[in-house]
Amino acid sequence: MLSGKRVLLAVSGGIAAYRAAELARLLIKQGAEVRCVMTRGACEFITPLTFEALTGQQVHTELFDLTREREMGHIKLARWADVLLVAPATADIIARFAHGICDNLLATLFQARRGPVLLAPAMNTVMWEAEATQRNVRLLQDGGVHLVGPAEGDLACGETGFGRMSEPSDILAALYPLLLEQTLAGQRWVINAGPTRESWDGVRTLSNRASGRLGALLAEEATMRGAEVQLIAGPGTPATCATVERQNVETAAEMLLACEKAAAGADVFVATAAVSDYRFAEQHAGKLKRGAGSLTVQLEENADIVAYIAGMEDRPRRVVAFAAESTAHTELAGKKMQAKGADAIFANDITRMGVSRGAGWWISGDSVHEAEDMDKVELAAWLVSRVIEMQEGVK
Ligand SMILES: Cc1cc2nc3c(=O)[nH]c(=O)nc-3n(C[C@H](O)[C@H](O)[C@H](O)COP(=O)(O)O)c2cc1C
Repeated sequence: MLSGKRVLLAVSGGIAAYRAAELARLLIKQGAEVRCVMTRGACEFITPLTFEALTGQQVHTELFDLTREREMGHIKLARWADVLLVAPATADIIARFAHGICDNLLATLFQARRGPVLLAPAMNTVMWEAEATQRNVRLLQDGGVHLVGPAEGDLACGETGFGRMSEPSDILAALYPLLLEQTLAGQRWVINAGPTRESWDGVRTLSNRASGRLGALLAEEATMRGAEVQLIAGPGTPATCATVERQNVETAAEMLLACEKAAAGADVFVATAAVSDYRFAEQHAGKLKRGAGSLTVQLEENADIVAYIAGMEDRPRRVVAFAAESTAHTELAGKKMQAKGADAIFANDITRMGVSRGAGWWISGDSVHEAEDMDKVELAAWLVSRVIEMQEGVK
């Protein structure tokens, strides 16, 4: 997602400095070009070597460094970056930024740049709530600086409250709007994901191999591109960033109810979930004991969620179905699309369930686009682009 984007990751001297290493790793994994700046305070908590090893680049720590000034001077470094991300941002660096103090490399870089800046504050709750810190934060926000967090929770000092640095994945989610074109701004997307689980007795269930990975990635991809996203997630669906509004459900009936409520009037509904076609006609309390010999179990059919959503009076403007098939993929999926009243369908092979790579066919109207084998992260981006094309009327 961040391929070709230049991120200047600045680490200041708080206990959360070690978590910036995870952030650097995530940024690189997303294809960003990362350079690091550390304050002297930060170097007390974690060594520059960690970031040099992760980024493959020298870490900048000193303002008065002739060699570095020759190679990449502080002004050049400030201008090089598409975004300056300060994580963690201490009360001290926030104060320096707010008051235009330029007595170290990071504070000077902040004053010397024009592009977007994102701060992820991290400090003790009392420090965060201190009048001076709050005043400084307001000054910076009024000046267009962006903030993510701090989050609430247990702090390293043993206290509980606001002050934790946001999770690296949530910091990334806050970074996307500053770096990526917000093509989907103003749109509301509802996505369902994962398997469903039908109870037979207190311990046994009927489910399937779906992992929910592609649906979760689609939700993140759409939110990165500016959409407001609601994810209705079946059991085991991977965690999603904070900008995705998520509702966890278990059974097909719960999935239907949640989808119906969320999808009414939405711009897009994408049904990636592998919803159980059947549920047990009878459910038993407790655990059924063995010893009854062979058993015959009666199943009842569940509602077809896509058909139901596509047939609603205030149906979403676009309904995208998914079809897992084992043969005649495009032919069977095309028929399903028509029968369900969906606007498009993504056909894929059943062997793609629960694995990290995907492939398949996007069918919309009478056109078919093939998605060749790729990582599901890329596939999610590919699919969102197909939806955008459909919205724009591109065949
Ligand atoms: C053990 C320890 C932990 C600290 N943790 C934090 C912190 O989480 N957040 C913060 O704003 N300051 C924290 N401080 C205070 C900063 O390190 C101090 O204000 C320092 O001057 C910050 O420098 P810098 O902003 O240039 O990195 C901590 C200090 C110590 C000794």
